[in-house]
Amino acid sequence: MATAHKAPDVARDGAAAAAVVTDITELEAVFDAAVAADERIEPRDWMPDAYRATLVRQIAQHAHSEIIGMQPEANWITRAPSLRRKAILMAKVQDEAGHGLYLYSAAETLGVSRDELLDKLHSGRQKYSSIFNYPTLTWADVGAIGWLVDGAAITNQVPLCRCSYGPYARAMVRVCKEESFHQRQGYELLLALSRGTPEQHAMAQDAVDRWWWPSLMMFGPPDAESSHSEQSMTWKIKRHSNDELRQRFVDICVPQAESLGLTLPDPDLRWNEERGEHDFGPIDWSEFWSVLKGNGPCNEQRLTQRKQAHDEGAWVRDAAAAYAAKHSDHDKDRRPAAPGTPAEATA
Ligand code: 3HC
Repeated sequence: MATAHKAPDVARDGAAAAAVVTDITELEAVFDAAVAADERIEPRDWMPDAYRATLVRQIAQHAHSEIIGMQPEANWITRAPSLRRKAILMAKVQDEAGHGLYLYSAAETLGVSRDELLDKLHSGRQKYSSIFNYPTLTWADVGAIGWLVDGAAITNQVPLCRCSYGPYARAMVRVCKEESFHQRQGYELLLALSRGTPEQHAMAQDAVDRWWWPSLMMFGPPDAESSHSEQSMTWKIKRHSNDELRQRFVDICVPQAESLGLTLPDPDLRWNEERGEHDFGPIDWSEFWSVLKGNGPCNEQRLTQRKQAHDEGAWVRDAAAAYAAKHSDHDKDRRPAAPGTPAEATA
């Protein structure tokens, strides 16, 4: 899209400063026009520093959510009630690891390394989704996560397929296809329980009761308290506000809950004819902010397990790096010598 720009602080004299300012103004104009025309911004294009920083923040938080999200579900792999359920759950948890990989790769195109991002996750300097700080107490929680948590994730992420930053948008296409399978497995699991014995039905209802409100919080704080939404929407990173997507999710879930034969734990939930949407009750935002500060039921456990898994996986990363280095040397040896190179120099 444009050539690399010079940083303003390298311009020391007036003339040079004016030239740089013109450069940046021009580059910004090209960038703004591309965003306005719904063109994709690609890694080598010039972009404002704040746009880059916002993308790194959001994509990193998203990637961290995918890999931390493996924990509450993996908790049930050994206790899945049948081989079929176990196979489905293992595939789903593996998908989440894959989503993490696409997202860390997308973040790397912005000039940050995966090690740096993982470091920030492990030291609490970057966040992951609030939702994964809640425990999975029964098998029905696996269904509730699929139906509600993956359902909320799809509602939030389908618009991200149109994000202005190319690598993130493209990663989202595949992620959303897989999330859609996750959502259906959760729905089908809950349907089986809901239509099962009274105890199974009660277990499904209890899981929905516990996961409903935290799922609504996944969309982020109300618009009035969302620090990044306005700018992210101007840049077309986000296409809708937190409250818009939350409302969309509630409207999708109400008929699905009816088909499941389960209720949503909100006495204020009702259709509003005038608005053409459901009204719903107040969300306990103090709980949300408290979870973000590290005080959720599982914050400590999630981070401890993540760090432990990272440490235990060090030998795999080392082996992979050694293998890659060995093969790159091997490939170098097999590359044909440049014309005129003495034979012994390539031996
Ligand atoms: N959990 C943790 N932190 C949250 C949050 C949540 N649910 N919602 C908002 N926040 C944080 C923000 O990161 C921001 O903190 P920061 O300034 O320190 O970074 C602060 O709360 C204010 O929120 P904003 O509304 O201003 O933040 P955003 O504009 O970034 O909007 C968002 C938040 C809607 C979550 C947006 O970042 C987004 O769409 N992210 C991509 C999707 C994503 O991260 N999903 C994770 C869900 S889980 C998942 O995908 C796994 C799947 O398998 C289920």
